[in-house]
Amino acid sequence: MFHVKHLSQKDDSMTSSPEISPSLGAHWESLPDDAQEIERVRASFISAYGYEPEGVWSAPGRLNLLGEYIDFLGGTCLPMPLPYRTYIAGSARTDGVLRAASAQMPADTRTVMISDIVPGQLKGWFTYVAGVAWAMNQEGGRDIALPEHFGADLYINSRVPVGGGLSSSAALEASTALALLDLSCPQRENCVEIDRAAQDRSAANDALRARLAQVCINAENTIAGAQTGGLDQSAALRSLPGQALAIDFRDFSIEPLHVAPEQDGLAWLVIDTNTPHELIDGGFAARRAASESASHALGYSFLRRALPEDLSFADVPEREAKAQRANRVDSCTNAAMLALEDAEGTPPDFPRGWVRHAFHDMMLVPRAIYVLKALETTAEPQERQKLYKELGHLLTESFVSMRDELRVSRVEIDETVRLCLEHGALGARIVGGGFGGAVMALMPQELLESTADAIAHLYASCGWAPPRFLPMRAGYAADIAYKRD
Ligand code: GLA
Repeated sequence: MFHVKHLSQKDDSMTSSPEISPSLGAHWESLPDDAQEIERVRASFISAYGYEPEGVWSAPGRLNLLGEYIDFLGGTCLPMPLPYRTYIAGSARTDGVLRAASAQMPADTRTVMISDIVPGQLKGWFTYVAGVAWAMNQEGGRDIALPEHFGADLYINSRVPVGGGLSSSAALEASTALALLDLSCPQRENCVEIDRAAQDRSAANDALRARLAQVCINAENTIAGAQTGGLDQSAALRSLPGQALAIDFRDFSIEPLHVAPEQDGLAWLVIDTNTPHELIDGGFAARRAASESASHALGYSFLRRALPEDLSFADVPEREAKAQRANRVDSCTNAAMLALEDAEGTPPDFPRGWVRHAFHDMMLVPRAIYVLKALETTAEPQERQKLYKELGHLLTESFVSMRDELRVSRVEIDETVRLCLEHGALGARIVGGGFGGAVMALMPQELLESTADAIAHLYASCGWAPPRFLPMRAGYAADIAYKRD
């Protein structure tokens, strides 16, 4: 029998969207129930391996409120953990073998010797799992590197939509990292305790999680072959329950922010457009390389350093702040393009908009943080409305930049954003790496269902695969779900 040693708790301050009653047309996902998911993954482990797992670990996907394609440039991003998580049931082995099976890939069970994992050999979903084992042994440090003969049996079930731009890869990496760290404890001299870590706000706990995030980034870059930044892994491991996290990627420092639009009758509409995105083809890496080359041409380690320290335009009215941002984005983009031309002897062979977008989003986020902080201290309803309106405008501004400058949108996404705005959203944007995936909108709660219906209707009339609507509630970071005694 299993004894529940620790079940991650949701913070009382976490609030949820109103109950969604399914309406004709729009397909609403159900919010996962942790206890059921844990039981399900445990049962699947037993049928896959024929014995009971030692425990279950899980990690969330993320909704990035703002700041795309800037984590690898030292920008600041604003992710929030989703209630959709990846669950892993696991048991330790002592023969160095790593076995993994997944509910999403039932015909693709994998086995590898951990010591045999090297870059460039593995393919598909398993690279995210094996990659973490490999990366823990690279620069993890003695307390993270796996003991010599350690191995594991894992069974994975993802409730984060896969390929939806909601960071299913990082949820898989983060849950694997915690599972392997915890399972390897009995084989270590000094075991790192991670129990109850999602509730632990101490600096030591966050420092361990920050190191595990680096391990996961390395796994994704080197073994899975996706040149992503650190946004997703940091959000999966370091988020605090029910809060958004401002992550400053110059030094990976974090600042939790209270974001609770439901207190003002607003809600997030999250739409998986069912147009899967892939970050391991060239589009993401090319944009990253272009903006990084701009940093180097300007002589900065991070492009963020080309901008002033304070970008909040505090106490400057919305319109004026926007105008000042636009001027700054123009002058910085000009300087970067000229520096690139000087360095290379010819004009850069990538669109100017790729660099423009980077400056643009790097400037939007500090203003959004300023607005969110103002909301924490403003009680006057009209003033709050004004602040939310500006927040919405910032979201849509980012979308326009991703569509027209970075060029990572597609027709389904454009139309989804357009419909959200037409139906009364304060702002809407694509989430994550783009090319497909999810859209989020900030909307009056009472308009969620009618907007979803209109979107579902449009997709059906265009003959597009049906979108999925994801009820939103703030989640919590990667954690141990329970451990057998
Ligand atoms: C993906 C990457 C992140 C980040 C976003 C875009 O999710 O994994 O590192 O670059 O795209 O903001």
